[in-house]
Amino acid sequence: MFFWLLILLVTILFYWFTRIYINPGNFPNFPGKLPVIGHLHKLPGSTKELWDLVRQIADAGLKTGNVILFYFGFFPVYVITDPDDCYKVAIETLHKPGIMKRYSRDMLGNGLLVGPVSVWKKHRKLINPSFNQQVLDGFMNHFNDQSRILVKELENAVGNTPKDHRSALERKALRTICGTAIGVHITGNEIYSKQVLESFKETLLLITIRFTRFHYYFNWIYKRTKLWKDTEQLIKFSHDFTERMLQTKKNEIANTPRDKDKYLDSLYKPFIYHLLENENKKLSLEDIRDEIKVMIMTGYETSNTVILFVLLLVGTYPHVQQKIFEELEEVFEDSDRDVTKADLSKLVYIDAVLKETSRYCPAVPVIGRVLHEDVQLKNSVLKKGNVGIIMLYAAMRHPMWGPDADQWIPERWLDPQRLPANPHAFAAFSYGKRNCIGQTYAVMSMKTTLVHLFRRYKVSSNFANVKLKLDAVLRPHSGYEFSIQYRNK
Ligand code: HEM
Repeated sequence: MFFWLLILLVTILFYWFTRIYINPGNFPNFPGKLPVIGHLHKLPGSTKELWDLVRQIADAGLKTGNVILFYFGFFPVYVITDPDDCYKVAIETLHKPGIMKRYSRDMLGNGLLVGPVSVWKKHRKLINPSFNQQVLDGFMNHFNDQSRILVKELENAVGNTPKDHRSALERKALRTICGTAIGVHITGNEIYSKQVLESFKETLLLITIRFTRFHYYFNWIYKRTKLWKDTEQLIKFSHDFTERMLQTKKNEIANTPRDKDKYLDSLYKPFIYHLLENENKKLSLEDIRDEIKVMIMTGYETSNTVILFVLLLVGTYPHVQQKIFEELEEVFEDSDRDVTKADLSKLVYIDAVLKETSRYCPAVPVIGRVLHEDVQLKNSVLKKGNVGIIMLYAAMRHPMWGPDADQWIPERWLDPQRLPANPHAFAAFSYGKRNCIGQTYAVMSMKTTLVHLFRRYKVSSNFANVKLKLDAVLRPHSGYEFSIQYRNK
């Protein structure tokens, strides 16, 4: 009883405080705002419903053509859907919302994705060179090797019955990021790798669930819940895995004669070398662990989801699959050779399929920023001190994409007339200085994977059955089974 009276009192005080001090400007509200609780009653119980809500908010923003307000209790949040406005907010504000940092701190510490700007600036400068084109070109062998292993693993799944192939794709993605950025080769079949795959995925899910339970904002409530106990256990797996990767690489470097290590004295070295050579100088051991965790999580979760979406969509549209086969025959003829860097730029249709999939089902549909300054948009001003939700998903469904914006049409990327003239309309990797550091890596690795998969197999699926959910990353919730058959060339 006392507890609820206390909550009521705090609520009234907050209400009074915010009525006086919080003035987000004159923007329309997302429908359904109630006094005091704002839109909190709209927060759903599952991450599938969360995605449904995000889509409704995006649609409402696109309909008004303006920023709209979503209220977490008394606190308004700007929802931004116009591509130019999304761009403006993303480039002018680098700070991640406090709630995001708070919820992910146990998992990712101060790593790039969520770190405070003061830390982020220093780390991003150090890490940027590890995504230099020359370093990435050096990963082509690894991308090919891992794709071949995936193709081999999928042989067991060939048949007419649609199946869930996510775990083979996830193992491949984990092997790839560990073998390239961290330089540690794992098979992905070890018990600990399976636990890690589960733990990274489940942690994202549990962190997202925390977002949907308003009272879990308070650590003194949250840390007493079963949700926290489960999250803590999963986080421990991912910490142990990170430690294992780090120690393995350190031992390997220590036991390799300097002249035999091709990266040690090179200007173009992978991520882990940049971290280790700054250990105890610009980076603490804790910083290094955080960055490795962020790199593994961002590196495998996102591209893996996009590949899964591509397979589900291509499997639904045989004419697209046929065009992919034709392109592969043109570039590779009948050869099963490795994909080279030069091949990648010739794969124009596969590039279109990837871009259209990233537009249609963006792995990261929403990002957040906290405004430390007022931001002048095309038609309005956002006030400092508030949070802005940048709806990348909405920017990529904006009417400037044409009347068929809600359809998946790779061909639009082959004809400039069918694309918006606005350079900010495509936002899958975000914009500005805090955009995706792994964009080129992701595209190179995904293209290589698709070449190997479609040279050997054809897929069939039905995207109409796919239901989506938002576990921080957008992923299929159900209906993602597809069947794989050998191609009859
Ligand atoms: C299709 C695949 C991918 C997509 C769609 C994607 C998308 C994004 C987006 C939208 C952001 C901005 C997040 C924000 O502002 O909150 C981001 C950040 C980031 N991405 Fe990616 N990403 C992909 C693949 C990768 C890969 C393969 C890596 C690593 C190898 C990676 C590493 C990162 C990192 C470290 C950040 C944080 C950057 C920073 O704050 O400085 N991503 N990604």
